[in-house]
Amino acid sequence: MKVGISAMEYYLPEKVIDNDFFEHSKNEFLEEKVGIKERRIAAKDEATSDMCVTVINNLLNKNKIDRNEIEFMILCTLSPDYPIPQTSSQVQHYCELPKSLYAVDVRLGCSGFVYSLSMAEALIRGFGFKKGLVVTADKFSMYLSYRDYTVDTLFSDNASAVLVEENPKLLEITAHDFGTDGSGTEQICVKTGGSRYPRKDASSPFQLVKPGIERSDDYLYMNGRQVMKFANATVAPSAERVMQRAGITLDDVDWVIMHQANKLMLEDIAKRMQLPPEKNYINLWNKGNTTASSVAIATKEVLDRGERLNHGRYWIITGFGVGYSWGTTALKYVG
Ligand SMILES: CC(C)(COP(=O)(O)OP(=O)(O)OC[C@H]1O[C@@H](n2cnc3c(N)ncnc32)[C@H](O)[C@@H]1OP(=O)(O)O)[C@@H](O)C(=O)NCCC(=O)NCCS
Repeated sequence: MKVGISAMEYYLPEKVIDNDFFEHSKNEFLEEKVGIKERRIAAKDEATSDMCVTVINNLLNKNKIDRNEIEFMILCTLSPDYPIPQTSSQVQHYCELPKSLYAVDVRLGCSGFVYSLSMAEALIRGFGFKKGLVVTADKFSMYLSYRDYTVDTLFSDNASAVLVEENPKLLEITAHDFGTDGSGTEQICVKTGGSRYPRKDASSPFQLVKPGIERSDDYLYMNGRQVMKFANATVAPSAERVMQRAGITLDDVDWVIMHQANKLMLEDIAKRMQLPPEKNYINLWNKGNTTASSVAIATKEVLDRGERLNHGRYWIITGFGVGYSWGTTALKYVG
């Protein structure tokens, strides 16, 4: 049985924030090193499910997909509309998807699209579903204080939606590699608001680290250097394992699409893989890090560019970060 992707869409909110917005941050650091000029921030009243509804409706309407044929939806987000209940139920309702829908939230960060895609594949192979949606969306701006330029500069709010089905029209899923290392829990973390430090008794005052960096446990913290070490050690071996499992080598690969975290880091990882730079897709410039949607958005951009779309050739997609968690998949272009 062949299972994979038949259609993709993504959504970025209208509001653009450029590098000049951040008083203490250096534009050259962001542009030359991280590779970011602009990011997108959702409106105050635009919740995660609103971005999901927009992107799903675009996907279904543009591709003339009958919403009554959608049998499952896997929705990956770390920024749900409410702590309780799950966001996938609201999205089912607002998108008028069938009530027979198998709908579930997945809580993962930057590995989320790759994991969710594998769950969709498993549902089709194991349960006999014919078609369903993988949706990723995050309003990470809700976790940013705009008092710490080391994280506030990096992220865009986002959503993506993908149709996964039997006999795919674009990209067939062929092999996977997954991993988890919870020793990285606090390296990318919002400490309060969960069961360990509930907000009602753990609201955290801001501490000044240096001008432009004030931190509170109520907002996102990232130890960029540690996360970079993890990514440098993890991504290339994971891609190697996936290629072995798919029975291919780099010569069979047209595109490697990594989680878009940092331009120089992606270039370094590509060197470790001995990947020619033109096969390493990088799109941080106008959106930065779009968390779980990043790999989906980059994949859709490659499809839209129409460059190097060769039937039967392979693409490697890989997501890594929060957790730590990583996932890598080999896709075969079948369009
Ligand atoms: C976050 C990241 C861009 C920071 O870059 P870095 O080169 O590692 O920078 P460091 O954190 O070591 O900080 C070095 C210095 O640059 C400064 N700096 C960080 N961001 C800056 C900015 N936007 N402008 C100016 N200086 C900045 C730091 O304050 C620090 O200054 P100090 O030496 O005076 O303390 C980078 O570590 C990264 O991309 N990490 C990987 C992230 C990732 O993979 N995430 C995946 C899951 S989300």
